[in-house]
Amino acid sequence: MGNKDREVYDYRKDGVFDKEDRKKKRNRQKRIVLERVLVLAAFAVIIIMVVLIMNIIDSSKEKDKSADSGASSQAVTTTPTETSPTTTTTTAPATTTTTTTTVTVPPPLYPVVPDVQIIDGATYMDGILIVNKTYSIPKNYAAGVDDVAYAKLQDMYKAASEDGLTLWTASGHRTYEYQQGLYEKYAQRDGYAEADRYSSRPGHSEHETGLAFDVNDPSEDFHGTPEAKWLEEHCAEFGFIIRYPEGKEDITGFMYESWHVRYVGEDLAKLIMENGICLEEYFDITSKYPDTQAEMQ
Ligand code: DAL
Ligand code: ZN
Repeated sequence: MGNKDREVYDYRKDGVFDKEDRKKKRNRQKRIVLERVLVLAAFAVIIIMVVLIMNIIDSSKEKDKSADSGASSQAVTTTPTETSPTTTTTTAPATTTTTTTTVTVPPPLYPVVPDVQIIDGATYMDGILIVNKTYSIPKNYAAGVDDVAYAKLQDMYKAASEDGLTLWTASGHRTYEYQQGLYEKYAQRDGYAEADRYSSRPGHSEHETGLAFDVNDPSEDFHGTPEAKWLEEHCAEFGFIIRYPEGKEDITGFMYESWHVRYVGEDLAKLIMENGICLEEYFDITSKYPDTQAEMQ
């Protein structure tokens, strides 16, 4: 074999060797690249799975929170009752979690258990004479107008006069017989059911106590007048209440009488007028005639 041939041979040999070597090298590089791609893909899959799991955990926490807040608001809207200070506990509806909310009920504005005394057929609650459809007083209980109430009435008229208004008494003390005549007259005119809405049956009128007065004009025309407004605003300063307030007919038993004031003393008058309640609400009592209501208190 000549040099040239050997060169050719060597060249070929070397060429074959180089080709195979490069091929192996390329294959190895491909494998390395493939391995790296696979590792990266595996990493990506793991990261995606971790993110998905975290999302699922977060959304289940949100669901729990909203279930909790729904239960809380339901518990908070529980209606307090007018009783002595109490604590009400409400439990949320059965879910995966149970929430308990505590609501403290404030004490009532006024006492619900008064000291009751019945003296000579008249009922007193915490010393206040009670007369309405449920509670009667004996025939001719009072001989005339109460002295203290009359003096306070005059003080009130004087104060109104200083404010430029004239107040006077249209009706004060009434005897049993006088009240009977009035009631019968109204009943004949309007029927008993209608008369019962604005006129007391005898034995049930505050006018028979000497503690009640009709001021100025005892008719609907008096509603909303400057005198009526002044009376409502200032009567408590002198110990009087508007005895049959607007919107309380179902409780007092009588329609709104802006002119009818009743003396109860300054402390109770202020408490009642400032809180917009009536005497029946203060003592938690009814005003219904015994013949229209089975029970008599
Ligand atoms: N007008 C009141 C209710 C009465 O007759 O005593
Ligand atoms: Zn009256």
